[in-house]
Amino acid sequence: MDVRVWIVMLMVAPVALFRRPAELSLCQVLQKDADCSHLNLRNIPNHLPSGIHTLDLSQNHLQNLTDDSLLSYTAIHHLKLHSNQIEFIQPGVFRDMSHLRVLDLSRNSLDVYGALKTHVGPLPSVHSLDLSGNGLFTHMSDYFLRDAPALTNLSLNGNSITKICRDTFNGSQALQNIDLHNNVIIEIEEGAFESLTDLSELDLSVNSVSCIVDFNLFQLKTLNLSKNSMSSFQTIDSDRDFELLDLDLRENKILDFPVLPRKNRLVYLDLSRNLLRSVNCSGPVDELENQKDSSRRVSKQHQDLPRLMYLDLSYNQLKSLPSSFFGSTDALETLNVSNNCLQSFRVMADGPLNSLRTLDVSFNNLQDLELEEKTLTALEVLHLRGNSLRVLDGNIFSKLPSIHSLHLQQNRLSICPSADGCVSLSSLPTLRYLYLSENTLSSVPREAFRGSPLLILDLSLNPGVEIDAGALSGLETSLGWLYLRGNELRALAVDFTLFSNLKSLDLSVNRLTALSLWSGDSSVESLNLQSNSLVTLAPATVSALQKALKTLYVGSNPLSCCGNSHLLTLLQRDGVSVPDIAAATCWYSKDSRNTEISVSAVRAEHCASVDGNVLLISVLVLLVLGLTVLSTVIFKVCHSRRHAFNRGIRA
Ligand SMILES: *[C@@H]1O[C@H](CO)[C@@H](O)[C@H](O)[C@H]1NC(C)=O
Ligand SMILES: *[C@@H]1O[C@H](CO)[C@@H](O)[C@H](O)[C@H]1NC(C)=O
Ligand SMILES: *[C@@H]1O[C@H](CO)[C@@H](O)[C@H](O)[C@H]1NC(C)=O
Ligand SMILES: *[C@@H]1O[C@H](CO)[C@@H](O)[C@H](O)[C@H]1NC(C)=O
Ligand SMILES: *[C@@H]1O[C@H](CO)[C@@H](O)[C@H](O)[C@H]1NC(C)=O
Ligand SMILES: *[C@@H]1O[C@H](CO)[C@@H](O)[C@H](O)[C@H]1NC(C)=O
Repeated sequence: MDVRVWIVMLMVAPVALFRRPAELSLCQVLQKDADCSHLNLRNIPNHLPSGIHTLDLSQNHLQNLTDDSLLSYTAIHHLKLHSNQIEFIQPGVFRDMSHLRVLDLSRNSLDVYGALKTHVGPLPSVHSLDLSGNGLFTHMSDYFLRDAPALTNLSLNGNSITKICRDTFNGSQALQNIDLHNNVIIEIEEGAFESLTDLSELDLSVNSVSCIVDFNLFQLKTLNLSKNSMSSFQTIDSDRDFELLDLDLRENKILDFPVLPRKNRLVYLDLSRNLLRSVNCSGPVDELENQKDSSRRVSKQHQDLPRLMYLDLSYNQLKSLPSSFFGSTDALETLNVSNNCLQSFRVMADGPLNSLRTLDVSFNNLQDLELEEKTLTALEVLHLRGNSLRVLDGNIFSKLPSIHSLHLQQNRLSICPSADGCVSLSSLPTLRYLYLSENTLSSVPREAFRGSPLLILDLSLNPGVEIDAGALSGLETSLGWLYLRGNELRALAVDFTLFSNLKSLDLSVNRLTALSLWSGDSSVESLNLQSNSLVTLAPATVSALQKALKTLYVGSNPLSCCGNSHLLTLLQRDGVSVPDIAAATCWYSKDSRNTEISVSAVRAEHCASVDGNVLLISVLVLLVLGLTVLSTVIFKVCHSRRHAFNRGIRA
């Protein structure tokens, strides 16, 4: 393709140029696109090729759009005027721009123009109009929309509109997509959107709408009402089909499950961060209920949701979620009921949720979890974190034939085989991720995970847990990440040489005094030993680690400066990073006092001179051996250490 670039120098007039250097503009013209953005322009340049299709005048200082300034560019398709200070538009200025399809007037001062109550005149072919960020009040948008027959995309994002009136969109009947995000809308007049037969996307998020009654936009596909003050959402009672696919009601104050279209195709429903106490619907039934006449009490279930794939009910106040609720949700793939007040969660054959892949019930008050046979057959990810689960059906997870990831943190479970009410975590052939931190686990028994090909195992923050020597057996080929942080471990009897794929081992915040975990080579790339009681690291351990190690945390250990030459050499190696080097210190004896220094500050002389008294005693005790022999040995040792300590340590 032959792409030629012209640089067009524009000089408005020599005099103007002299007086106002900003007028000197340097628009870049590439084929039919002219880029005049960021040039401090106060006027529209008038020497550009008249056939240009795209004119970018954004980020300048334009104030007035007048006929004479745009007259010569009638071929324009796309006019970008955002981020100027436009406050006046000459009525009719766009009338003859019959090719203009995209008009971006965002971030100007069109509220000044709106106050004049003058119509801009026809926008004969504009498809997309952006009026966002103009401080427009209610009715002001009307002056742009009265004669916009081709308009499909309209953005009024970030203005000050409080009310959508019945006739606001009268002159723009082709609208498909309206963005009213971030205004202060409190009222929508009946009929405002109904006549827009092509309307498919409506964004009313971040406004002050307090409720929707008789929702009747049959043609709408996406409705965003998140971050309003809605207390209820009710659809009109109708047997007609609704096209609605996505409904976002997140962050409102909704008390009852919304009354959704009876015949719906809803795919996505977000009701998170509301005040739902149950999944019963509100509506006329409530009045009956309020009469407290139990014989007339009618419970109104929600509508069928046969296509729903995503349902977010997190951060509400649900106390129960009857299994029958899922009677119609055959397509549901993601269900989030985290952060509610559920005490039990049951999946029964009447709502088997057999398409569900992700279930999040974390941070409730679950004491009970019950799954009937042949339910949740597609479930891959189960979040149960932060509940009170203590006793579960021991084989509950083996009822989940597709389970891949189990998040069981912050419960009070115990692992089988152990005495009472344990849960079995072995023989789950699809399980790869298992999180068991903060469960007050007392033990991890032998072969606890055999037959479950875990890639990640997190057993952190179970202080006092006893890990059997064979606890991890069966995981030798699968285990990649093992977290044992904060377990008060004094020792660990595992030979990690057998774990040929182990990449990351976290042993931080324990009480390990020694580390002998490798009989041969280690595959570990990241090792965390922070906050233990390690004084020395055996040379055999260091040499086992040497081949694969890339990252090592050793801070907050009482390391010895002088008994750790292998470790210190490892820390200096290229390719081994020590992210906590600032906290990595060691101790050496100076003037019969223990002194702490950074491991990166250790020099041969710290270990060279043995304290005077000690030396004297040594001399007395070892008198027989003779001074010459002794000093020869010291000299040799120090010589080899000096070699090791000379380079700095990289973090
Ligand atoms: C814009 O037009 C107004 C009058 O409509 C005038 O007072 C003002 O000076 C004009 N501004 C520029 C930059 O031409
Ligand atoms: C209309 O708006 C949508 C969403 O803002 C956008 O993705 C699409 O590109 C727009 N269409 C046109 C023609 O500007
Ligand atoms: C808007 O259109 C409706 C019919 O489509 C009409 O009844 C009404 O008068 C119009 N309003 C204005 C202000 O043009
Ligand atoms: C609804 O609007 C909010 C706020 O703008 C946004 O974060 C959210 O993603 C939107 N929802 C959907 C479903 O697009
Ligand atoms: C919801 O409806 C069921 C009957 O389907 C009823 O038993 C239950 O009490 C209702 N819950 C609330 C909180 O109104
Ligand atoms: C469920 O919702 C909570 C809160 O909105 C969120 O943090 C969490 O990531 C969601 N869970 C899933 C599986 O998406």
